[in-house]
Amino acid sequence: MCGIIGYVGDTAAAPILLKALRNLEYRGYDSAGIATIHNGKVSAEKDVGKIDQVCGKHDLEKLPGNVGIGHVRWATHGDVTQVNAHPHFDCKGEIAVVHNGIVENYRELRTRLEPKHRFVSQTDTEVIPHLIEEYMDAGATLEQAVLQTSRQLKGCYAFAAVCVKEPDRVVATRRESPLVVGANSHRAFIASDALAFLQETNRVVFLEDGEFVILGKTVTFLDQDGKPIKKEFKEVDWKWDQATKQGYDYYMMKEILEEPQAIRQAMMQDRKLLLEMGIGILRSRQVVITACGTSRFAALIGRYLFSRLAGKFCDVIMGSEFQYFSDSIDRNTLVIAVSQSGETADVIQGVKRAKENGAQVYSIVNTVGSTLARMADRVLYLNCGPEIGVAATKTFVSQLTLFYLLAFTMENRLDDGIQQLLDICPLIEQNVKQNNKGLQVLAQKTRDRNDFYYIARGINFAIAAEGALKMKEISYIHAEGMPAGELKHGTLALVDHGTPIVVVAPDDYTYDETIANAHETKARGAFVIGLSEETNPIFDAWIPIPDVDEIFQPLVTVVPLQLLAYYSALARGRDPDKPRNLAKSVTVL
Ligand code: AGP
Repeated sequence: MCGIIGYVGDTAAAPILLKALRNLEYRGYDSAGIATIHNGKVSAEKDVGKIDQVCGKHDLEKLPGNVGIGHVRWATHGDVTQVNAHPHFDCKGEIAVVHNGIVENYRELRTRLEPKHRFVSQTDTEVIPHLIEEYMDAGATLEQAVLQTSRQLKGCYAFAAVCVKEPDRVVATRRESPLVVGANSHRAFIASDALAFLQETNRVVFLEDGEFVILGKTVTFLDQDGKPIKKEFKEVDWKWDQATKQGYDYYMMKEILEEPQAIRQAMMQDRKLLLEMGIGILRSRQVVITACGTSRFAALIGRYLFSRLAGKFCDVIMGSEFQYFSDSIDRNTLVIAVSQSGETADVIQGVKRAKENGAQVYSIVNTVGSTLARMADRVLYLNCGPEIGVAATKTFVSQLTLFYLLAFTMENRLDDGIQQLLDICPLIEQNVKQNNKGLQVLAQKTRDRNDFYYIARGINFAIAAEGALKMKEISYIHAEGMPAGELKHGTLALVDHGTPIVVVAPDDYTYDETIANAHETKARGAFVIGLSEETNPIFDAWIPIPDVDEIFQPLVTVVPLQLLAYYSALARGRDPDKPRNLAKSVTVL
């Protein structure tokens, strides 16, 4: 997703902006650019490609001045071209703007501006510098012009502007797209994500919808009417080294290996808060969990745990569909929003509608101060540090851990639950070592297959779905996960000689039926990959898993499937950290 950065400080802006953009690379992007202000002039360079490629073509690092803005673009409006890359400019080249989000009414604004302004790109963003230009030409300051411009925009946005007429400042605002301000004694930043400037400072302020910030000699905050407001800087406890590869080839591998530690860290929760939330869940007339992608699969397992351990039924609705159920959401509804980023627009939109209908909201997020954290009545944080790989791994097991804690709290067995979770961590560590080589071999063996099917029953059904999601997002091959019993209702028609079928079959009450479904595929020539404690003659390849109680199986079944996806991506020459077309934080609808 697009990432923006703005900087004002005591040293040259360009190298700092570039470093910050590199820190935002994980969000996914297709072009990059920066603009700085110096000697009454905007200097800018931008182009398509990764930051290193853009730097190879243009001397971004040498752009002069101590004030600047930067951007990594994930195309929404307009092709991936140099002219569509950010920053965008006004007619005179005196104002530069970077933007994250979507200006929904840009066509209407552009039609209105076009008679007097020269547009060069196909983007929605370009209306912003031209609007600022209009207001400044009419006598407004940059701050006033940004305020007036924001009132014209519909949709979600976070944008930052610089102008040669006020060369000492960056002005920025947001609505429904994240924007965080960071500052130390001699430097100030705005960015889409605090990771952008974490090497410089961990003192941050999260801007609320409609607020403005002016970075200059001091940092000034304004409310939506332009009146100065006080906001307090808080320290985020993420450490920069958590966001580096620390010797691993890819973040994804590092983050998979961090999973046992992530489970331990996720268990560090305030017991009183857990109890309040557990009681809240039990007492609510209806509970709806909403999430997208991997977080939704964690939610499906959470639903199973609530039912199994606490006898509490709840529904899981994917974020992008949740708003369409708003007719049945009211003040007797408790919504649990699950999101590693806390910034997923689909989830935010549904939660917003639910709040308008009077629902209570709990959030389970990783990013402290993120939008979903701020929208919630109660928040549980994953505490697993930043996850940089686009494919969610350690945040998934952390989300599961929080569902275990809530379910055990509801059952009044929290201490027992914690002990059992602690016992599982070393089993995961051993299992990774045990499977590592075999999974590399398996990935090589199946590297020419373009369709994978994953099946499981009960609590592991969502793991089959998650295994398939991991495979498709980083290997670019077709993969589907489904309840094993569902296979014969359609998908079996696609199974052919050599088709890999990943069978998640732990030794529990689902085992016999799942194996029976595996036989149905074997009879059609499938290559059966079995995950279970003991091997079975039907398996063409076996991935051993440790023997744990049924309710904890998802924690041990998911890790080998993450590794299989990882090695399959490598076997096909893909970069598992930066899958094409995908973004870490999906801040558009
Ligand atoms: C996970 O591997 C995916 N990258 C994606 O499905 C992700 O889980 C989804 O976009 C939701 O993100 P969130 O947890 O930040 O809300």
